[in-house]
Amino acid sequence: MANKPSVLIIEDDTSLRRVLEFSLEEAGYRVLTAVDGTKGLDLFRQEQPPLVITDIAMPGLSGYDVLKAVKEEAPETLVIVITAFGSVEKAVEAMKLGAYDYLTKPFGRDELRLVVAKAFDFSGLKRENARLREELAGQVDFSHIVGISEKMQQVFDLVRRVASTEATVLLLGESGTGKELVARALHHGSERAEGPFIPVNCAAIPRELLESELFGHVKGSFTGAVRDRQGKFQQADGGTLFLDEVGELPVDLQPKLLRALQEREIEPVGGATCKVDVRVVAATNRNLAQAVEDGDFREDLYYRLAVIPVELPALRERREDIPLLVRHFVKKHGGAGVQVDDDLLQRLGAQNWPGNVRELENLVERMLILRRSDRLSPADFKPTAGPGGKGDSRVLNLPDEGYSLEDLEKEAVIEALRRNDGNQTKAAAFLRIPRHTLIYRMEKYGIKK
Ligand SMILES: Nc1ncnc2c1ncn2[C@@H]1O[C@H](COP(=O)(O)OP(=O)(O)OP(=O)(O)O)[C@@H](O)[C@H]1O
Ligand SMILES: [Mg+2]
Repeated sequence: MANKPSVLIIEDDTSLRRVLEFSLEEAGYRVLTAVDGTKGLDLFRQEQPPLVITDIAMPGLSGYDVLKAVKEEAPETLVIVITAFGSVEKAVEAMKLGAYDYLTKPFGRDELRLVVAKAFDFSGLKRENARLREELAGQVDFSHIVGISEKMQQVFDLVRRVASTEATVLLLGESGTGKELVARALHHGSERAEGPFIPVNCAAIPRELLESELFGHVKGSFTGAVRDRQGKFQQADGGTLFLDEVGELPVDLQPKLLRALQEREIEPVGGATCKVDVRVVAATNRNLAQAVEDGDFREDLYYRLAVIPVELPALRERREDIPLLVRHFVKKHGGAGVQVDDDLLQRLGAQNWPGNVRELENLVERMLILRRSDRLSPADFKPTAGPGGKGDSRVLNLPDEGYSLEDLEKEAVIEALRRNDGNQTKAAAFLRIPRHTLIYRMEKYGIKK
């Protein structure tokens, strides 16, 4: 596909060349190959790939020659050289000539992918990629969504294919896996991109208000309805309505949503039906099929919503994305010049991430704020284990006479909000609970924003 980042491989050893080609293709790159330096440079001039991987020792033009020529003709190109085991001085020489990195034979697939991913994440290359992707694919902008794993590439593929259609998409996945991010990408990749994108969190709005929130109401239809009010469906007219946490939609409202989806027609509270032109993208971290079985969710609505189900994989199922995500968040949160130690990446890669990408993002943000130098190392990594958990210096100090669990919970909620400047999304991630659960707890304990 034209919008994949390209890599040119120049390697005379056929079996190694095939392994490289296969590994990188599998990781989602567009791979070009050449069997020697001369053919490699020809191909380089034709295709101008942003990354070249070349063996050093080859008959004819050597890897050094290739490196010099590439750097002369297109200095922004990154070159990774391959050297034989035990020839560090060759790698050093290549680095002096402007190589970005080197691989020493024999190397594993993971090492290869990591080095390549690092290169693509490096400075301008990524921006260039984003620009190319937009230009070539035209539609869906994935520049804010990071992922080289097979699983995420499959998500991107599916999103690309369905974005421009009018089909209802159901995004499934644990909390913090990027459902909202993908919903926005779907909208921006559709013909409705110029229209509004209206998110509604079905779990955050009390039942009594939800109907009017979604479908609007007319003046006088209930106490407090002092004037006509547009619902989210009307607001989203000509655009996309994002129904977040759709699994929490009360059963008695489900027929109304079904009708809106089927007939493109809504009925404001106390008013007459009207047509709306809305594309619906829904999301849930609940197992909706199970909810159907349990009788909490209407089967017909489920099938209406899940015309195209897109499953976002949990972070622990795609650990190879972690290094890229970490670097992405370091930059996103103002740490542009900050280095990240490989040891730290390894540590993070081994974590379980119940809060998924959001949890990783919060952790990176915290490490950046608390860092002692412009180099993040395992010393900066303090997992936020719960009371008594490893890695936490604070020991839970409970009074001898006992303490109510509810008060403890209330304190935890307040502390989480305080630490996150009242940001509910971040506070929820901090507590490893969905945002609606946090909001529910805040209401329960009378905690104000
Ligand atoms: N693949 C990704 N690349 C970059 N950032 C990501 C990615 N996935 C998630 N994020 C970031 O993680 C955070 C959580 O993502 P998002 O809000 O889309 O998750 P969600 O699935 O909607 O979670 P929830 O179910 O809790 O609402 C956001 O800040 C988002 O930008
Ligand atoms: Mg969300």
